[in-house]
Amino acid sequence: MAAVINVNGRINNERDAVISVLDHGFLYGEGIYEVVRTYGGRPFLFDRHLRRLRRSGLMIALHLPFTDAELAARVRDTIAALHGRGPRAARHEDVYVRILVTRGVGELSYDPASCPTPSLVIIVKPFVGHPPEVYERGVKVALVPIVRNHPSSVNPLIKSNNLLNNVLAAQEAFRRGAFDAIMRNHRGEIAECSISNLFIVKNGTVLTPPLEAGLLAGITREFVLEMAPEAGVTAGEAALRDADLLGADESFLTSSTQEIVPIVQVDDTPIGSGRPGPITRKLQALYRRKIQGLARWD
Ligand code: PDD
Repeated sequence: MAAVINVNGRINNERDAVISVLDHGFLYGEGIYEVVRTYGGRPFLFDRHLRRLRRSGLMIALHLPFTDAELAARVRDTIAALHGRGPRAARHEDVYVRILVTRGVGELSYDPASCPTPSLVIIVKPFVGHPPEVYERGVKVALVPIVRNHPSSVNPLIKSNNLLNNVLAAQEAFRRGAFDAIMRNHRGEIAECSISNLFIVKNGTVLTPPLEAGLLAGITREFVLEMAPEAGVTAGEAALRDADLLGADESFLTSSTQEIVPIVQVDDTPIGSGRPGPITRKLQALYRRKIQGLARWD
């Protein structure tokens, strides 16, 4: 089934959902976004996504002129519209939700003063996850030469619609037949993947690069760090170099839509045994258990 899209309160199918080409989101890539999926009809860690959306807004001087409750109501209306259009069975299907806020329509000028009202777009479509093999066998990723944006340039902490840095890295990975790209920062340390965060496991400890390395403060990343002790695992942040990744016992990537995906190969180098490791599996299982209790709207 195709997407249903809410543009500034008007809900349409994907053919009829339109936005002005004078929107600074289109002209200058000036906007921010969040992606969540639902489980049993409810989003997971939605409050954290809304907080991050506001933080991203602050970092580009974009004030969000709606409350969390108003935004949640708009998301729910859009989901209801998708379900209303589909067959009865589709009403229980989980959905992918992308929330975008842009500077809005204005003059051909970088001055935000010409854009009185931000645009709010919500894209909802049935959630289609990866096939089970991705979680059971793991994936190959590519270490690419595209450097993650310098934090003093377009800070990767901003979940920005301006995704060229990520797109170029992903293109290189796809050319190499890899599932995703791993990007390094300006110092040559590992930063993150093009659309997810990266973890390694070494001698029983789970490690992920610190935010200071220049990466998105992933909500799944944060949740994995928080829940790891419950799985009996020590987890923390550490600057990582290529050798740490290539010599790791296990590795995995995380994101809200992908959860925890084992990485079993980086270019030609197998990671650990070349199969998803025991700690990755433990964390995958715990994450899925946690979702059951925590997926909700507030
Ligand atoms: N992206 N790093 C980057 C560059 C990302 O784009 C994402 C997520 C993450 C993981 O963040 P989180 O755990 O909060 O989903 C890390 C979303 C899913 C996307 O663009 O579709």
